[in-house]
Amino acid sequence: MSEADVRAATVEETEDTVAADTAEVILEADNAPITEGLPITDEVIFSVKHLKKYYPVGKRKDESGHRHAAFLHAVDDVSFKIYKGEILGVVGESGSGKSTLGRCLLNLIHPTAGTVKFKGQELSKLSRNQMKQLRSEMQMVFQNPVSSFNPKQSIRKALRNVAAFYGMDKEAAKARINELLELASLDPGLLSHRSNELSGGQLQRLAVVRALLPAPTFLMADEPVSALDVSVQAQVLNLFLDLQSELELTIMFISHELTVVEHVCDRVIVMYLGAVVEMGRTDDIFAHQLHPYSESLIASKPKAYPEEEKTHEPLQGEIPSAIDIPDACRFCTRCPKAIPGVCDTKTPELKEYGDSHWAACWLLEQDA
Ligand SMILES: Nc1ncnc2c1ncn2[C@@H]1O[C@H](COP(=O)(O)OP(=O)(O)OP(=O)(O)O)[C@@H](O)[C@H]1O
Ligand SMILES: [Mg+2]
Repeated sequence: MSEADVRAATVEETEDTVAADTAEVILEADNAPITEGLPITDEVIFSVKHLKKYYPVGKRKDESGHRHAAFLHAVDDVSFKIYKGEILGVVGESGSGKSTLGRCLLNLIHPTAGTVKFKGQELSKLSRNQMKQLRSEMQMVFQNPVSSFNPKQSIRKALRNVAAFYGMDKEAAKARINELLELASLDPGLLSHRSNELSGGQLQRLAVVRALLPAPTFLMADEPVSALDVSVQAQVLNLFLDLQSELELTIMFISHELTVVEHVCDRVIVMYLGAVVEMGRTDDIFAHQLHPYSESLIASKPKAYPEEEKTHEPLQGEIPSAIDIPDACRFCTRCPKAIPGVCDTKTPELKEYGDSHWAACWLLEQDA
């Protein structure tokens, strides 16, 4: 089985849009302070500094009528760390840059600027061969388990192919697959089935088993339960929690489902239009949001009891274009609390306002 086949089976192919024209982006020197989150343990798995991912989107006219290359700011100056053994949630509305951030961390796409270090190694500096070796340490689980398996082959064959790719012989692969099936509470009888004969919940747990075959230290889960029925989501979520406690796995959990994030994550990053607007412990963020965007996001979370349902006002106002990001708080066009002349004048920095609770908001700076 070729490397390309395994990548197709384990890692969704992404168009590498780091085209030569991206080099046209002239990035100013970054001297802003690096913001960090709460250490769950001292061991840093990922260290992300001033990460930017800009996509070229052709040429645009500026105010003076000159045409110049335009870029969509999918991820715009993001810094944080991921600590060993934690589940870090990434939330934010569609298009806020969650998946792009995840792909930069796994080096599936190359950042426009900034650095991503995995266990101290800067990924952009690794050779193809070095990256191939590291690949076994960082694996991914995708949203749609159905499309991530080839319906023409049995699950056994799919898993064995991946194990062989990572250098396991037949006996070692068999033992490892059985061990992981037990961990995922899956019947070994499922191995003889093809993907189209299994349920979404079974397939997603098998996708997790497949990701764990090379014994990774880090798992990136991008909307891993969004495609599943609510009735089977809990099985998959509990599997993530078991992996964290039994294998001390470090997980980045991207999701727009806040109830799910609240249930499984230790810390949360809230993204808005490519930037981090709030970061902290899950309990702190869900109990007390510092940023008005997080406040509105969490207020829109479905309530456990209908009688708790409050009249939550949907956000008014336009989202700025991700191509022309204003030098202002990027949420100020929709923020019900925005102060004219303050919030629309300069970009606020992410600062710590409580124990490992960070936010980027001019209102907080004023209060301080
Ligand atoms: N290859 C690409 N070329 C150009 N723009 C892109 C590309 N990939 C993503 N984008 C843009 O980057 C922004 C961030 O996209 P991304 O997929 O990271 O968001 P997301 O938060 O994961 O959204 P969702 O919740 O819908 O999955 C969006 O505006 C998107 O249209
Ligand atoms: Mg996404």
